[in-house]
Amino acid sequence: MNAIDLIGVSKMIKGSAVLQDINLRMEGGKIYGLVGRNGSGKTMLLRMLAGLIRPTAGKIHYENDLADGAKIGITIENPLFYPAFTGYKNLMFLANINKYAGAAEVRRALGEVGLDPDDPRVVRKYSLGMKQRLGIAQALMENPDYLFLDEPTNALDEEGIDRIRNLILRQAERGATVVVASHSKEEIAVLCDKLYFMKKGRIATETEITGKEVMR
Ligand SMILES: Nc1ncnc2c1ncn2[C@@H]1O[C@H](COP(=O)(O)OP(=O)(O)OP(=O)(O)O)[C@@H](O)[C@H]1O
Ligand SMILES: [Mg+2]
Repeated sequence: MNAIDLIGVSKMIKGSAVLQDINLRMEGGKIYGLVGRNGSGKTMLLRMLAGLIRPTAGKIHYENDLADGAKIGITIENPLFYPAFTGYKNLMFLANINKYAGAAEVRRALGEVGLDPDDPRVVRKYSLGMKQRLGIAQALMENPDYLFLDEPTNALDEEGIDRIRNLILRQAERGATVVVASHSKEEIAVLCDKLYFMKKGRIATETEITGKEVMR
């Protein structure tokens, strides 16, 4: 369930290759890490996996197709919210697009990231870490089959990092295919079943992580 295959995927933007000949298979129940320097293509690969950009060459195959109702959850860099709405109202607004999640799911997702669903403050008054948590709640609220998180621990305090790591592990346990991008290997190695090291739009090396159980 929920496997994704990329076969020879490349993306050219204005004459430069931002992704080059990416070949990989990602499976449900597993957590994959994309690691690499600034500009190496992590965010582009997440966008590609989520179907937000199309390959110039190559193919992507989803075992559980969006056309058959598969759900995608994603955070890309700095998520944009309505500054004049509360966190709860922002998520309800987004939840109403697909109607997979209702008030109960939105409240649960907010609680899971450590935000109070009844917080009367509007997002304009949120701290950076609170906005980051809201973005993650948004990605999780529909219980997605595919979950793509871009630098999920940015701006989080230690409590937040622990909380989000546990949440990510639980998403894989319920069968989601989880992909996490980070510029820091140390940040995500403890979570991942497999790491892909990106360099100039290519996957330079990949490493299976054994002993994740021990590190938990
Ligand atoms: N909208 C765009 N149009 C053209 N090129 C882009 C665009 N966005 C990113 N790029 C280029 O694509 C390459 C990969 O960028 P990407 O954002 O995927 O890097 P990243 O690994 O996520 O970096 P960071 O660690 O800084 O987030 C870079 O060379 C970047 O300049
Ligand atoms: Mg990025």
